[in-house]
Amino acid sequence: MLLAQLTDMHIKADGRWAYGKVDTVGYLQKAIDHVNRFRPKIDAVILTGDLTDRGGPREFEELRRHLQDLAIPWFPVPGNHDRRDMMREAFADHAQIGACRDFIQYAVDDFPFRLIGIDTTEPGKPYGHLCEARLAWLDACLAAAPDKPTLVFQHHPPFETGIHHMDVQNLLNGDVLMDLLARHPQVRHVACGHVHRPCEVTLRGIGVSIAPNGAHSVSLDLDPEGPSSFTMDPPSLRLFNLDAARGRVVSHVSYVGEFDGPYPFFDMSGALLD
Ligand SMILES: [Fe+2]
Ligand SMILES: [Fe+2]
Repeated sequence: MLLAQLTDMHIKADGRWAYGKVDTVGYLQKAIDHVNRFRPKIDAVILTGDLTDRGGPREFEELRRHLQDLAIPWFPVPGNHDRRDMMREAFADHAQIGACRDFIQYAVDDFPFRLIGIDTTEPGKPYGHLCEARLAWLDACLAAAPDKPTLVFQHHPPFETGIHHMDVQNLLNGDVLMDLLARHPQVRHVACGHVHRPCEVTLRGIGVSIAPNGAHSVSLDLDPEGPSSFTMDPPSLRLFNLDAARGRVVSHVSYVGEFDGPYPFFDMSGALLD
C-alpha cells in the first residue's frame, strides 16, 4: 500500500501569498498533480494539519476546492493554524470527520494498514497537547484492533528536532503519547507535520517522522539562538510504502517537479555505461 503525506499547506484565500512570498495554493496544485500522476498508483493521502494559514472559512473553502482534484481518498487532521470548528464545517460530508464529538480524530479501516488520525491541537496555542479524553480515546481505539498494523498521524511531533523555535511548540506531552503507543505493538509508525522539514527518529522502538513541505521549509538552523525563518527548499512530500503482511513501513521523500532524467545505468547489451 502506498500512502502519501501532504502537510502544512497553509492555504490562503483570495489570491494572497503566505508571508508575502509563498504561493501556497499554487504549490498545493502541483503536489496534488504529483500524487495523482505517481505510479504505481498511490492508495490514500494523509493531511497532517496547518491545512490553512489562518483557519478561516474562506481558506477552508479554497482548500476544499483543490482537494476535490485528488483522485484518491484523503484524510485530514488539524494543526495549530486551523480552527477546529471551521474545519468541521468545511469537511462536514467527510466520512471520518464526525467520528469523535469533541475532537477531529478517527480510525480508517479501509486499507491493509490501519490509519489513526489524532487531534493534537489546543485552540489558540502554537504547541500541541493530548488531554486525558484524547489519550483514552486513542487507547480504546488501539485496543479494538490489536492485530492490524497501524500508522498514527498527527500534526505536532512528540520529539525535539534541534530547531529551537519549533521545539518549544512541539507536542508537550509526547512522552505520554509514546508510552501509550508502546503498549500497543501493532503501532508501526507515527507520521507528523508542523516542522516543515523531513526528520526521523525512533522512540520506544517506534519509527516517528516529520514530513517535508510542498511549499516553504523551516530553515535547518540548529543554533539554539537561531531566529524563526523559512527557506524555499525543493518542494517535496512524504511517501510511505506500507507492507501489512510484514508490518513494515518504508519512508521515502518524493520531490515535486520536473527533473533531468531518468537515464539508464546500462547499455543495450547490459554493460555498465562508462
Ligand atoms: Fe505549519
Ligand atoms: Fe503547525
